Amino acid sequence: MGKGGLEDVVAAQSAICDVDGTAGRLIYCGYDIHDLAEHSTFEEVIYLLWNGQLPTKSELEGLNKLLRTSRALPPAVIEAMKKFPKEAMPMEALRTAVSMLSMYDKEAEEMDKEANLRKAVKLTAQIPTIVAYIDLIRNDKPVVAPREEGSLAENFLYMLSGGTMPNEVAVRSLDIALILHADHELNASTFAARVAAATLTDFYSATVAAIGALKGPLHGGANQEVIKMLIEMGTVDNVLPHLQKMFANHEKVMGFGHRVYKTEDPRAFHLRKMSEELGKRAGDTKWYEMSRKVEEQVKGDKGLNANVDFYSASVYYMLGIPIDLYTPIFAMSRMSGWAAHILEQYANNRLIRPRAEYVGKRDQKWVPFEKRQQLEAANK
Ligand code: ACO
Repeated sequence: MGKGGLEDVVAAQSAICDVDGTAGRLIYCGYDIHDLAEHSTFEEVIYLLWNGQLPTKSELEGLNKLLRTSRALPPAVIEAMKKFPKEAMPMEALRTAVSMLSMYDKEAEEMDKEANLRKAVKLTAQIPTIVAYIDLIRNDKPVVAPREEGSLAENFLYMLSGGTMPNEVAVRSLDIALILHADHELNASTFAARVAAATLTDFYSATVAAIGALKGPLHGGANQEVIKMLIEMGTVDNVLPHLQKMFANHEKVMGFGHRVYKTEDPRAFHLRKMSEELGKRAGDTKWYEMSRKVEEQVKGDKGLNANVDFYSASVYYMLGIPIDLYTPIFAMSRMSGWAAHILEQYANNRLIRPRAEYVGKRDQKWVPFEKRQQLEAANK
């Protein structure tokens, strides 16, 4: 038995994403994340992850057209969402709505590559609509039909605001955040998706498995916890005493540490920069400054680096996005990576079924109820 948690275990061969934890490098299909964050768009990255190469102009236009015309949700799913409890967590609502989509997709059980690619397009296009509708519906606002134009980031912010066109800075900031979160090799949610896909279950079921795993605070749920911590700290001066209390209580500082990166998470670099820029634009750099202070202190005291979730928290906060939508936004992006991995798994499949080392009791003898209490007493 190794270190537990499958640490350092190579569980699949994949041509999608390479994480070099020592050098702090992240590569999508051969392209460095720094290049993609600087020059690319989320849609271009989706094409890259699904096809292994950057699109030509017409290939990108083709994908854009498919994504834009797939944004609307089946009316029955919208009606069902209106019946969800108002206080449902957005990740619960997302998980449930995505599961419902399969019942309204005639191809849900089709397993050929083309049908699965169509499901990848639909889910990538529809998840942002679900996330925006979750927020509109719980606030008793009318749902806004998606536009069949513009980028996924632009349309999401448009729907979320109830129908106001977002500014370019907000759109580009979200677009970069989506690029940075799109894939990350065998992270917990992607592994969950691949384990499910390897049973040859349908595309939707594999996606629901991934959403369930992403929700956890040790994975995608961390970004929400980061901003809650910053709000609790309240001021730059409170950072140190607050952290000292957390350290004394052996609490984890959300947004820090990583199973693979032993150095800076390359995604944090871009989000840190964005957090600063958005703060300066808004004339409110407090969240950035507090984040810097937390980062300095956690690095100094614990030797831990910020991960992707740490600075995405202040970025989304500066974009005015409700806190409990941070993890669903992560899902909006990671859907592209999950899809790439599900397709790759189907293309070269073998059931994923590891073993457990048995460490329990052996050679127990069955006894009737009357004798169990006596046994229990004797064992005390
Ligand atoms: N704050 C304080 N201490 C930490 C943190 C943290 N964020 N992360 C790790 N440590 C400590 C652990 O307490 C442990 O110390 P110990 O050896 O004295 O017991 C040591 O560092 C090793 O930590 P593990 O939890 O064993 O590391 P693992 O590789 O299993 O976990 C993980 C990685 C889950 C990311 C962890 O660092 C963590 O819980 N971080 C906070 C949650 C978070 O930010 N998750 C998002 C990760 S990125 C993503 O999923 C998108």
